[in-house]
Amino acid sequence: MDNAQQPIKIRISKLENLDQLDKEIDALTVLYQECFNCAPNFDGYNKSEIYKIFKNYLHDGLVLLAHDISSGDEKLVGYVARVRPRGYSDDLESVFKKHIIRFNYKNTYIAAGVGVAKFYRGLGLAGLLMDEARRQIRVRYVLMDTQQDNIPSLISHQKSGYKMLEDIKPVTRRKRVNGTSLNLTYVFLVQDNGMFPWLNQKSDLPRVFDLIPKSKQMLTTPHNPEQANCL
Ligand SMILES: CC(C)(COP(=O)(O)OP(=O)(O)OC[C@H]1O[C@@H](n2cnc3c(N)ncnc32)[C@H](O)[C@@H]1OP(=O)(O)O)[C@@H](O)C(=O)NCCC(=O)NCCS
Repeated sequence: MDNAQQPIKIRISKLENLDQLDKEIDALTVLYQECFNCAPNFDGYNKSEIYKIFKNYLHDGLVLLAHDISSGDEKLVGYVARVRPRGYSDDLESVFKKHIIRFNYKNTYIAAGVGVAKFYRGLGLAGLLMDEARRQIRVRYVLMDTQQDNIPSLISHQKSGYKMLEDIKPVTRRKRVNGTSLNLTYVFLVQDNGMFPWLNQKSDLPRVFDLIPKSKQMLTTPHNPEQANCL
């Protein structure tokens, strides 16, 4: 068989504790910076900040990791994080208040982040991670915000069943990037798991999946030189 068509074996597992975080932090730093230190996110986090982010995720919710185990040298290639909503962010608190009948602290989690290494994008890995996270947390709603111009994020979340909260106005946040202040606009989406009851069945991790490589020409065509670093 043509080597390019061999499935990529991906193991999805739970980040269990701080000891494991200590072991994974170098690989997580590489992955996180590849995902978020460039356009359209521009986060610029260093290793100790990334450690704190994942320590908080562990404390407040769930982190799943995806490793490529196709060869002897396994490699971290994706993660997803879900956290309980209390105190997560003022903007999401106001969404809670506006939808007070719908969302409460028991039936809702926050989609705190998802990231996939560049080489593995466009193969459905973010979708797999999001589905596994949904099976682990088993709540009715998962709420999130994302940058309005982060098209891969919007498409992959919408394909995983997230819908725009049309009655919530986008918010603008200021970020300093290389000495320049940028205005970034965020929109809000929700995944209603009442529509996918079968996905709420508990699954045991770790699990191994096959990703089928395909032509990624569409996904790697940059819109501008800055985005070429990230998308
Ligand atoms: C957003 C991100 C996680 C998506 O990961 P991914 O593994 O490539 O996403 P998937 O392959 O599961 O995408 C699901 C669907 O969206 C589509 N999609 C993803 N990126 C796309 C792009 N750039 N252009 C067009 N479609 C895209 C996929 O083709 C797929 O559609 P299909 O099911 O019809 O094939 C990845 O681009 C990433 O890590 N970006 C940087 C970090 C980030 O911005 N995270 C989101 C904010 S929290």
